[in-house]
Amino acid sequence: MTADQIYHYLLWFIFIISALTFVATLLFTNPYGRFMPKDQRFTIASLPGWLIMEFPCVVVFAWTFSYGENRAALVPLIFLTIWQSHYFYRSIIFPLRMRDRGKRMPIMAVLVGVVFNSINGFLNAYAIVNLAPHLLDAAWLSTPWFIGGICLMVIGLGINMYSDNVLRNLRKPGETGYKIPYGGMYRWISVPNYFGEIIEWCGLAMAACTPAALSFAIFSFSNLFPRALAHHRWYRETFEGYPPERKAIIPGLV
Ligand SMILES: NC(=O)c1ccc[n+]([C@@H]2O[C@H](COP(=O)([O-])OP(=O)(O)OC[C@H]3O[C@@H](n4cnc5c(N)ncnc54)[C@H](OP(=O)(O)O)[C@@H]3O)[C@@H](O)[C@H]2O)c1
Repeated sequence: MTADQIYHYLLWFIFIISALTFVATLLFTNPYGRFMPKDQRFTIASLPGWLIMEFPCVVVFAWTFSYGENRAALVPLIFLTIWQSHYFYRSIIFPLRMRDRGKRMPIMAVLVGVVFNSINGFLNAYAIVNLAPHLLDAAWLSTPWFIGGICLMVIGLGINMYSDNVLRNLRKPGETGYKIPYGGMYRWISVPNYFGEIIEWCGLAMAACTPAALSFAIFSFSNLFPRALAHHRWYRETFEGYPPERKAIIPGLV
């Protein structure tokens, strides 16, 4: 099988998995974080768990890129930098900044994450470095696609990081419980970190205009939208005084 064929099969796999994930996550919430049962077996500490789960995105993307036809072209190199910066943050800085070091997560969630992130890293790097002739001309950098997409990415990342920061500061060192978050987009929605994440990957899909980047944006939505509904329900059931005007993930709507 050629690398191109592997790419196309995996791309279809992600589109199909996205549809299945959407339905499955509406019915059953992935059991990590607040949804992990107290008696969950086969767990790993969150810090190494996040690192193991997210780091394949850094390694597989870099490895695939390093063999790519257009690995020396300017625009692909810019996408390499953007991708690696995000995943350096997500796999190393984000878990290192978590307050509750005793927290654990299911090993199964980590394994599924490793598989997804490896495929996703491969697809996105392969598409950018081999299958995107539009990215070979530096003029792409001045198109509305690139500029608009990068603006969306920056806005999404800003919302995501700010919102994660609000959550992090809710717990004093040693605390493990949950509180109502306030400030930023928490004024309007319960889970702005997921909202920002989805916006960010929609931005990448727009800036790169590859099917792989689109598949990642769709997967992020399929995974995070139903989970955001579950978070919202959980907040409402858990806190009596939960702000009634707050929606789940889309301000003013859902
Ligand atoms: N692209 C994707 O498909 C994808 C998938 C998953 C995650 N992500 C990103 O990864 C990051 C983490 O995801 P996540 O699902 O772990 O987010 P999360 O459930 O919002 O939790 C983030 C952190 O904040 C803590 N926390 C959450 N709500 C809290 C509250 N009310 N009071 C006190 N602490 C609270 C959590 O602690 P606990 O662990 O104790 O709950 C965890 O340490 C997010 O930025 C998300 O966008 C992306």
